[in-house]
Amino acid sequence: MKRIGVLTSGGDAPGMNAAIRAVVRVAHTQGVEVVGIRRGYAGMIEGEFQPLGPRDVANIIQRGGTILLTARSKAFMTREGRAQAAAHLKNAGIDGLVVIGGDGTFHGAIKLIKEHQIPVVGVPGTIDNDLYGTDYTIGFDTAVNTALEAIDRIRDTAASHGRVFFIEVMGRDAGFIALDVGIAGGAEIIALPEISVSPQEIAEVITRSAEKGKQSSIVVVAEGAYPGGAEALMRAVAELTGLEGRVTVLGHIQRGGSPTAKDRVLASRLGGAAAEALIGGASGVMLGEVEGEVALTPLHEAVGNRKDIRRELYELARVLAV
Ligand code: F6P
Repeated sequence: MKRIGVLTSGGDAPGMNAAIRAVVRVAHTQGVEVVGIRRGYAGMIEGEFQPLGPRDVANIIQRGGTILLTARSKAFMTREGRAQAAAHLKNAGIDGLVVIGGDGTFHGAIKLIKEHQIPVVGVPGTIDNDLYGTDYTIGFDTAVNTALEAIDRIRDTAASHGRVFFIEVMGRDAGFIALDVGIAGGAEIIALPEISVSPQEIAEVITRSAEKGKQSSIVVVAEGAYPGGAEALMRAVAELTGLEGRVTVLGHIQRGGSPTAKDRVLASRLGGAAAEALIGGASGVMLGEVEGEVALTPLHEAVGNRKDIRRELYELARVLAV
């Protein structure tokens, strides 16, 4: 392999830059050139390529977002779009790809391999932590800490006013952020897509908390836990209790910011391992970290298997809210 491409795709995640840097520098030490593909698969279709040498990725390890930009490409979901993208790769002499992203990114990679026989290796970059085959995805730790900082601030004002706050965190289909943030933020109750909790149950917990002398309560809600999100859930609980709650939607604030040390180390490790694996002949696999070791998982398993949240942590959160 003489030249490989690297791209970031889907929702950006803190640590993607550290992963790009590792891909470029590990490939360089193995005598392989790297081409950066801008705006993910959308840029691949347009042939938006830029050479990346070791100095081009200097001073980015601490930066959030992605220097290569990202997109969710509808055109790449079509056969024609992928054929156009593959033709650009061939013209540019790109022999293989490292793709950094989440499940949508990997679905695209699987199709590219199948239809155009281009070797592709994946790196799990998403704040959602919803990929099977890695204990943590790049960006999750930073997103949790960002959300936690916000919750700590909200707790100050919640306590001062004796209020109940419903705080919505990201996660349409997965409750990993909500669970960690809920435990670390001392939430009274956590609403996840994986474990349904009714407005009635939440109303009971809040009422009991007040009876036990708690002046304020924090309810952490994953965006996909209830139709209409935290706002709708708060209204449903208010109808049952008459409470005058407040809602804060943390939204995209969770995706930005400088990556934590943990995310930088994970990104460096997995980015480097991905470059090595690709150059060594691997394809159709994701590089993850399982119980402290780098692990290879077929891409179709990474996207096809559901990673379960830890139920015992959910139960613990309920006990700790006593
Ligand atoms: O997949 C990452 C994520 O941040 C999810 O948690 C969230 O549901 C979604 O992306 C939001 O997507 P967009 O930035 O396109 O609104």
